[in-house]
Amino acid sequence: MTPYEAGQVFVTPAAYADPALFHEACAVLRREDPIHLVEHPDFAPFHVITKHADVLEIELHNKEWENAPRPVISNLEADRMREQQGDLLRTLIHMDDPDHRTYRGLAAEWFLPKNLAKLEGRLAELASLSAVRMAELGGHCDFARDIAMQYPLQVILSILGLPETDYSRMLKLTQELFGSADPELSRGVSMDDLVAVIQDFFAYFTELTEARKAAPTEDLASVIANASVDGVPIGLMEQISYYVIVATAGHDTTASAMAGGMQALIERPDQLARLQADPSLIGSAVDEIIRWVTPVKHFMRNCTTEYTLRGHTFRPGDAVLLSYPSANRDEEVFVDPMTFDVGRSPNKHLAFGFGVHYCLGAMLARMEIKALLTELLPRLRSIELAGEPAEMQTLFVGGLKRLPVAYELV
Ligand code: HEM
Repeated sequence: MTPYEAGQVFVTPAAYADPALFHEACAVLRREDPIHLVEHPDFAPFHVITKHADVLEIELHNKEWENAPRPVISNLEADRMREQQGDLLRTLIHMDDPDHRTYRGLAAEWFLPKNLAKLEGRLAELASLSAVRMAELGGHCDFARDIAMQYPLQVILSILGLPETDYSRMLKLTQELFGSADPELSRGVSMDDLVAVIQDFFAYFTELTEARKAAPTEDLASVIANASVDGVPIGLMEQISYYVIVATAGHDTTASAMAGGMQALIERPDQLARLQADPSLIGSAVDEIIRWVTPVKHFMRNCTTEYTLRGHTFRPGDAVLLSYPSANRDEEVFVDPMTFDVGRSPNKHLAFGFGVHYCLGAMLARMEIKALLTELLPRLRSIELAGEPAEMQTLFVGGLKRLPVAYELV
């Protein structure tokens, strides 16, 4: 594969659904052209950053490298629409300092370990329900759809304080938003379809905000609905964007990690047996699963000043795509990066990003995966693939959409 062919992978949703091809492309670029210019008729040009050290450096220089105006890859049609109408949402990932620091601060306290510790009982309960669900399904299920997609959504619904009756509506909306590049998951392929999905999110969360303003509770929705900056309540757009980022960022990501982690364990029975024999490895296994799957495929940064990296000089306005899966397979940082090792230590993966935008839900995501493994592993007598796994087509967040398994529980 030539560097040109490897670069095209980063604008091809179907290529992300083929992990062997995708990782080969990353390896080619890390070796031959680690800061590679991608040009394609449907996208404004950008450089793809494939080395761990370079991703880290850019993330740490958030004044020289901003999230606005293009925090994730978008095609020219979407770029044009953003220029004419502004962003459809304004979430933390669309912001830079000083706004970013202010708005992140509104919910940061809620995500502190001492507050999250209160959730441990609820997580164990929901994880245990997942094991019960597997038992009910009678030895066969699609682990991605039946278990991995359901449990993190229940967690998100719980922390936002939404009723469980809204579960299926939220699941569909999240998949339509993130799966918008996969014809099997999306509502449609046009910008109008995507706008309609976002309007549905707006309608849902406007109702929620009104309810929590009228009667605040302990949940995260109440924190957001009643948040103010310098004594002035934050705008509806910022509120709704906050719900959307928590509901979406916290769902498909964790679900993909769980399904991909299960596939990795099934395909490596020695690692599964090792983990079952020594549950003290669950902590390191969680991070190895997250490194292995790297559910968020990239974020972008936009250059604000002349900046030289690895001999390449960027100019203001240049965009880069930070490839987290590539950074997480970097041979210079990870011993045997293509090996899945539940005891890996150290494990300095960048799956949660780094710096000021570092994932707000990283600790919650780790707790969720740990709770599921803690509940499930002791009950799993055997598990094997019962069909072909299938990956989602995506350019942004993704992982398995199907993982048919057959199992025996004790
Ligand atoms: C395995 C699961 C997850 C992965 C891999 C993941 C990954 C990421 C990444 C890569 C970023 C951007 C970091 C950067 O730009 O440096 C991010 C941001 C974010 N994540 Fe996560 N995430 C996960 C789960 C969650 C959960 C469970 C929540 C909340 C419930 C969450 C909420 C957020 C928020 C609010 C941001 C924006 C932070 C900011 O811009 O300041 N994430 N996540």
